[in-house]
Amino acid sequence: MRKNIVAGNWKMNKTLQEGLTFSNELKKLLNNKSVNCEVVIGTPFIHLSEVAKSFKGTKVMVAAQNCADKESGAYTGEVSASMISSTNATHVILGHSERRAYYNETPELLKDKVLQALSSNLTPIFCVGEALEERESDKHFDVVAEQLKGSLFELSKDDFSKLILAYEPVWAIGTGKTASAEQAQEMHAFIRKTLVEKYGEEVANDTSILYGGSCNAGNAKELFSNPDVDGGLIGGASLEAEKFLPIIEAFN
Ligand code: PGA
Repeated sequence: MRKNIVAGNWKMNKTLQEGLTFSNELKKLLNNKSVNCEVVIGTPFIHLSEVAKSFKGTKVMVAAQNCADKESGAYTGEVSASMISSTNATHVILGHSERRAYYNETPELLKDKVLQALSSNLTPIFCVGEALEERESDKHFDVVAEQLKGSLFELSKDDFSKLILAYEPVWAIGTGKTASAEQAQEMHAFIRKTLVEKYGEEVANDTSILYGGSCNAGNAKELFSNPDVDGGLIGGASLEAEKFLPIIEAFN
C-alpha cells in the first residue's frame, strides 16, 4: 500500500540555528501525538546533518532539495548523493520547478540525478507540474506526461517503485493560489493512469503522489481526502512548526 506523506520544503530559508529551533519546536508539538503519515523536512544542504541528528529517534525524516548529477570528482560547489546520505538524510527533492526554471535543469540532467540518488539509497521526491500558460492552453496533461517520461521512464520497475512523486502546478507555488481539490485529483489520477500504462497497476497503486502549491493548514484536509492525493509537498507553510503541524494532522 502506498504511504501518506507530508514533506516540508524550506527552500533557501533559515539559518542553521533557525532550522534547529524549528526541529525542537516540531518535536515538542509532536510529542505523544499519533501521526498517521510519514513526515519529511527538506532543508538546505548544510543543515541536513544537524537537523537529522535533532530528529533522531523520532519519525521525522530529512530531505535534501537537490543533488549532483555526478558521483564525485572535480565539480566545484556540487553536493553528491552519497554525501547527502552520509548526513543521515533519507530523501532528496528533485525536479522542483524552481530548479528547472532558474537553474536550467533539463529532463536529461534530472534523469542522472535520480540515478545518483537511487544509487545512494536516497528516496527521490520527484516534482512535475505545468506553468499557467500550459494549463490555459490545455497542455497540462501532456507537459506532466513528458516530464515523467523524460526523466523517469527508463527506470526499471524496481527502481521506479522507490520514488515519491509530487504534482506541483507552477502557478500555485508560493502564490497563495491552490489547485482546487478537483484539479488536483484530476491530475493525480492522470499521473497514476500514466504509471499504470508504463509500470502496471501494482507499482502505480503503490506510488505516493503528493500535491504541492500553496497547500496549508486550511486546505490540506480537503486536498488529501482525494483518492489519488497521498499527501503534500509544503513550501511556505512548512517554515513554522505551528503551521506545519496541522498539515501533518490532516491525516488524523
Ligand atoms: P508553496 O511551495 O507551498 O510555498 O506554494 C511548494 C513547493 O514549492 O514545494
